[in-house]
Amino acid sequence: MGILTEPSTVALLSIVAVTLLLLLRTSRKFYQHERQLGCGEVTSEDVSWIDFLGITKLVEFARHFQHKTALEYTDQLFTRYGSTYMSKILGYRIHFTCDPKNIKHILSTGFADYDSSKLRGPLFNPITPHGIFTVDGPDWRAMRDQLRTQLSNNRGICDFAMFERQFQILLQHVPSNGQKFDIQASFISLAIDIQSEFALGDSISNLHPSPAPAKKHFAEDLHVIKETIVRDGFRGPLRHLSSKLEFRQSCVRARRFVMGYAEREMAKHSAVKMQTSDQGYYFMRGLCDRGADAAQLANQTLSILLANDSIATTLSGIFFLLSQHKWVVSRLRQSILDEIGSDLPTYDQLTKLVYLRYVIQESMRLFPAAPLNARTANKHTVLPFGGGPDGKQPILIRQGDVLVFSSWSSHRSEENFGAKPEEFRPERWEKLKGDVPGFIPFNKGPRICPGQNYAMVVVSYIVARLMQTFSTVTDYNPGPWVERISMTLENDNGVLVGLS
Ligand code: HEM
Repeated sequence: MGILTEPSTVALLSIVAVTLLLLLRTSRKFYQHERQLGCGEVTSEDVSWIDFLGITKLVEFARHFQHKTALEYTDQLFTRYGSTYMSKILGYRIHFTCDPKNIKHILSTGFADYDSSKLRGPLFNPITPHGIFTVDGPDWRAMRDQLRTQLSNNRGICDFAMFERQFQILLQHVPSNGQKFDIQASFISLAIDIQSEFALGDSISNLHPSPAPAKKHFAEDLHVIKETIVRDGFRGPLRHLSSKLEFRQSCVRARRFVMGYAEREMAKHSAVKMQTSDQGYYFMRGLCDRGADAAQLANQTLSILLANDSIATTLSGIFFLLSQHKWVVSRLRQSILDEIGSDLPTYDQLTKLVYLRYVIQESMRLFPAAPLNARTANKHTVLPFGGGPDGKQPILIRQGDVLVFSSWSSHRSEENFGAKPEEFRPERWEKLKGDVPGFIPFNKGPRICPGQNYAMVVVSYIVARLMQTFSTVTDYNPGPWVERISMTLENDNGVLVGLS
C-alpha cells in the first residue's frame, strides 16, 4: 500500500488540515476584530522562520538572566523596536512595553482585564497557596481589604522604638574608620529583621551573631524560596526541567515555622478574648484581632515577608549612589541635621524631610525594586498605544497574551524625567510633579503596594539615622551596578562602602 493511502497517514493529514483551517479562521476573526476596533499592527521582534515557536528567544532570555544582562537587553530591544513590541516565546504572544500610557492602562484603567495569578500562581503556590500575590478577582479583593485595614493607620503601625533597636544592631556591623563592608548584605538582614518583627512580633535576628537555629533556618529557607521563584519565572516552562526538591522542602519548613506563630497567636487570642491587651501592635496580632484564621495568618504574613527585600533594595541603591555623589551626601546630611539635629527622628519630622524624599525617589527611579513585571490578559482586550506605523494606534490583546512592563526602562525616559535620565540627580524632583508618568516604584492602581507608606518611613528612618551618625560615605565598589534579579533587584557585587 502506498504511504498516502495508509489509514494513519490519512488521519494525520486530516488533523493537520483541520488545524490549519481553524488557525486561519481564528486569525481572520482577530484581523476583523482589529479593524473594527481601529487597532494597528504591533511591531514584532525579528525571528528566523525556523524558530516560529520562539524557542531560541526563551533560551536567549534565560541566558541574559544568567549573565546578569536581562535589563540592559530588554532596554536595547525597546530602542530597536519602540516602546511597545511583541515577541513570541514558546508559542505565547508576549507584549513588552515601557510606554507610561500603556503601563497606566495595564495597572489602572484596564486593571480588570489583566491577571497576576496565572503567571505567579504556579511559582508561589507551594509557599503561599492562597496569598495576595497569587490571587485575582474577588479573592484578591478580600485579601486586599484585610491588608488595608492593617496597613492604613501608618502612624500607628510604625514602631520607632523597634526601628531604633534594629538600627543599633545594624551599627554593630559597620566597621570603624570608614573601612570597606558590604552594606547591601547588612540591609538585606536588617530588612528581614524589621519586617519579621513587624509581621510576627518577633525578629528573625538575622543581624544577630548567633540567632536561634530555627530562625536561622527560616531565613535560609526564605532565601532558597525567593531565588527559585525568580529563577523559575525567567525560565518559563523550562523550569520543569530542574529539580524542585530543595524548594519544596524549604517551602514546607518555612510554612511550618510561620504556622507555629499563627497557632500560638490563635491560642493567645482565645486566652485573652474579651480582655484588653496592653501588648503593642504587630501584623499577625492585628489580623487575628480581625478574625483571620490560622491559614490566613500564615499566608498573609508569609506574603509580607516575601515582600521585605524591596526595603533592602531601596536602601542599597541609595547608599550605592550616595557613595558616588559626595555633594548629595553633604546636602542630605545638612538638611537632616537642620530639621532633627542629633535627636531621634519623629514621624512628623521624617515627613518634613523633602530632600531625603527626593534622594529616595531618585534612587528608586534608577534602581526600582521590581524592574520587570508581568500580567496576563484574562479576555480579548485593547492596549491603547503601540499599533500602526507610528505606534499611536491601539493594539488588540488576545486572551492569554502576556504583558511585560519595564519600570527599569520607563524610569529612564528623558521626556518624563528631564535631561540625562541615566544620572543620579535628586534635584530633578524639585521640578517634577509627584505623579510622573511611568514612575512606578510601588506600582499604580488598585494593586499598588499597600506597604508603600510604611516602607517610606522605614527607609527614611534608617537613612536619617545613618546620616546623623556618619558624614562620609566612601565608594569601594569595583564598577557599575551589576544587576542581580532576585525577588527584587540587587547588585551582584554587593554595595561596598565605608562609613565614617
Ligand atoms: C521600598 C519598599 C517597597 C517597594 C519598593 C515595594 C514595591 C512593590 C511593588 C512594585 C508591588 C507590586 C507588585 C506587583 O503587583 O506585581 C508591591 C506589592 C506589594 N507589596 Fe510592596 N514594596 C515595598 C515594601 C513593602 C512592605 C514594607 C510591605 C508590607 C508591609 C509590602 C507589601 C506588599 C504587598 C502585600 C504587595 C502585594 C499587593 C497586591 O498584590 O495587592 N511592600 N510592592
